[in-house]
Amino acid sequence: MNASIKEILKDEIRSASGHEADILPTPDATLGDYSTNIAFLIAKEQKKKPVDAATELNAVLESRVASFASIQVAPNGFLNFFLKPEFLRQRLGEIAADEKYGTSTQGAGKTVIVEYSSPNIAKPMHIGHLRSTIIGDALANIHEALGYHVIRWNYIGDWGTQFGKVIAGYKKWGKGKSDIAMSDMLEWYVRAGKELPDEEGQKEFKKLEDGDPENRELWEKFNRISLEGLKETYQLLGTTGFDVYKGEAAYEPQLKTITEELEKEGKAKESEGALIFDLEKYHLPPGLLRKSDGATLYLTRDLASLRDRLQNYAPAEILYVVANQQALHFEQLFAIARELHFTGAGLVHVKFGMVLGEDGKKLATREGKVVPLQEVMDKIISLAETIVKEKNPDLSGEDRARVARAVGIGALKYNDLKQHPYSDIVFDWDAMLDLSGNSGAYLQYTYARLANISAKAGTMETGDLALLSEPIEQKLMKQLLGFPDAVGRCAQTHALNGLALYLYELAAAASNFYETVRVLDDENGSRKNARLTLIRTVARTLQMGLKLLGIETLDRI
Ligand code: ARG
Repeated sequence: MNASIKEILKDEIRSASGHEADILPTPDATLGDYSTNIAFLIAKEQKKKPVDAATELNAVLESRVASFASIQVAPNGFLNFFLKPEFLRQRLGEIAADEKYGTSTQGAGKTVIVEYSSPNIAKPMHIGHLRSTIIGDALANIHEALGYHVIRWNYIGDWGTQFGKVIAGYKKWGKGKSDIAMSDMLEWYVRAGKELPDEEGQKEFKKLEDGDPENRELWEKFNRISLEGLKETYQLLGTTGFDVYKGEAAYEPQLKTITEELEKEGKAKESEGALIFDLEKYHLPPGLLRKSDGATLYLTRDLASLRDRLQNYAPAEILYVVANQQALHFEQLFAIARELHFTGAGLVHVKFGMVLGEDGKKLATREGKVVPLQEVMDKIISLAETIVKEKNPDLSGEDRARVARAVGIGALKYNDLKQHPYSDIVFDWDAMLDLSGNSGAYLQYTYARLANISAKAGTMETGDLALLSEPIEQKLMKQLLGFPDAVGRCAQTHALNGLALYLYELAAAASNFYETVRVLDDENGSRKNARLTLIRTVARTLQMGLKLLGIETLDRI
């Protein structure tokens, strides 16, 4: 039985009554596990009392769901479904044996491009790129688990006037320097911005655009150095590598032809010397494709890249994981794509909000600048190290550093993913590492405790699952059933907060379970093994869920 219980109930109701029912979780256990108000709808249509419609539907439905649920008709017309204990047991046995539980093949044969991170070269990655990296990496993991062929795409910002400034700065202050670092490039960029006239940078960029060999070589060198730096950051973050590093510069050579074609076909038109794409029909400002000085723009490059993605990868869907601020840009891009009949793929801007400090204001340095990512990572890892030292004083230096890194980075990721991406997220450093709150550290800690109990027991026998009759055991078994649904919904909603919440509730129920039920010293050996089966299965589900979120699990914290 792979479909979720909700889907099965929906299907049965559809074939019994021809109606599309909403299946809802119940507010409390006395009302069963799921309920539906479909009888209200039927009653209205057939001019009956809801309770009568419910009773009639129940007469047909009862035998159809008897293998897993019993139904109660409430006096107000609700149908309440109670999952049967023997069904839960049977499912636990199946789930325990299914190493791939939670994955599916629904995406088989379909390609999804997930574009994320996409930082700008010659400037350090900042916190907005961090959100994109965390969300995008997790969405890519989810699609892989659902059987899609996933292309992880890093659309590097490797073109633009900022390079003019870096080159101008280099020529002034960096000439002959042998081992150039990211920090040098940033320094030249900032200093050039302050001390050199704007024309200097513009001139160098123009030369680069025109193919000047010296500037071209410098550009390539700066790119290479930046990419090396980026890869170190990705490694520290523990994100999966990218399949495609193809940024804005790659499209530069085609832009002239593209804009000229659009102009010739009458799709784009001249306006005050610039080339624009009219989007009035979409109630959007016109898309600017070429400035009056001939320079092409961010939008033009995105259009070329979109065409490349569609033609060469035939994706079913392209997800652009980019900050809220660029919403208009993507609305324009998608509208132009529609006008040009770039069809076949769903285009989605997966937007996300800003990162706020504890004071509720946009996270910034004391001087009001964006906080470099490295600082954020260093801070959370060092805070995590303090906790690890406290919890586990005998962990040696190297091991402690490894655990602290996993806990710190896990905290950072979970704090982001547990919230809906649209919202601005707050960096409350203590809450992020709270071992008893809704944090990555808490989930990792719960996993480690479960793994520990299982390791201590040292047996892999299943035991008699019929002995799992405590309410908390029933609850845990029911929660396990929800995992595939929680994973699938992430792909539908392009958000991970539902899965994060699912994992948190599973962990909370698991903690409750091992705090109230004796496991290792249960004198009934068969029940002990059954409980261990439950523990192992929950632990594995937590581990798999966290892995999808990009969060490492550890055997001890
Ligand atoms: N490099 C851009 C920035 O940092 C983000 C790129 C987003 N992706 C895109 N296809 N435009 O703002």
